[in-house]
Amino acid sequence: MLKLEDLTKSFEATTVLDNISLDLESGETTVILGPSGSGKSTLLRCLNLLETPQSGTLFIEGDLVEFGGKLTDEQVRTIRKHSAMVFQSFNLFPHYTALQNVALAPVLNGKMNKKDANKLASDLLDKVGLGAKKDSYPDNLSGGQQQRVAIARALAVSPDYLLFDEPTSALDPELEAEVIGVLIDLAREKRSLVVVTHNMAFAQKVADRIVFLEGGHVLYNGRPEGFFSSTNERIRRFLNIFETV
Ligand SMILES: Nc1ncnc2c1ncn2[C@@H]1O[C@H](COP(=O)(O)OP(=O)(O)O)[C@@H](O)[C@H]1O
Ligand SMILES: [Mg+2]
Repeated sequence: MLKLEDLTKSFEATTVLDNISLDLESGETTVILGPSGSGKSTLLRCLNLLETPQSGTLFIEGDLVEFGGKLTDEQVRTIRKHSAMVFQSFNLFPHYTALQNVALAPVLNGKMNKKDANKLASDLLDKVGLGAKKDSYPDNLSGGQQQRVAIARALAVSPDYLLFDEPTSALDPELEAEVIGVLIDLAREKRSLVVVTHNMAFAQKVADRIVFLEGGHVLYNGRPEGFFSSTNERIRRFLNIFETV
């Protein structure tokens, strides 16, 4: 499981996450919602220490880190190995094929030899529906295909938690649907997913838990049913934008 206690993150004088506490169960899909600037990306980035909180505790699958001082490289490595991040902008290496992009990390982190990593990458590309595109370069793939390569690449390091920061925001609806399809498959397999998204259908139908952030505070944390039927004025205003329910 993943547990945050009293997590605070500020940039200079601005507090972006204000004493956040959260418990996420393994095998669940958590969707983080909230208006722009509410701290969603920062929260996700704190989970794998792309940002370092000023105070609080992060507990992830048996490893614990208390924030306050400077973290050691060993602490960062220990926490980071539990998760992998998928970004809005894919971030594939342009001079590597799809297969090479996916196979790279397990070799670099010393977990696999090249042959095993290539086999794993090949299997993972099959899994995300890109069996026919293994030798294609990112430039020759659609945005949806590139994002599926990025998901396969995240899976290649066998993370306990997959973190997605608006994985479909750069995509047309049709391509968005193919990426959401992969996320749905992962959720059905009971992978642990933490997804920042504005895709309300995914949030409503697939999430086990909704976390709604506003101004660095958790305004809602619980089942989707309760969120989508909430009478909280701020939540209604947010949902009305999407014309859901
Ligand atoms: N590296 C940074 N330096 C300064 N301010 C930042 C930085 N990253 C984020 N912020 C600020 O933190 C707030 C939350 O940002 P973010 O987590 O990106 O929100 P969201 O993902 O919900 O849109 C915003 O006001 C943003 O300007
Ligand atoms: Mg963001």
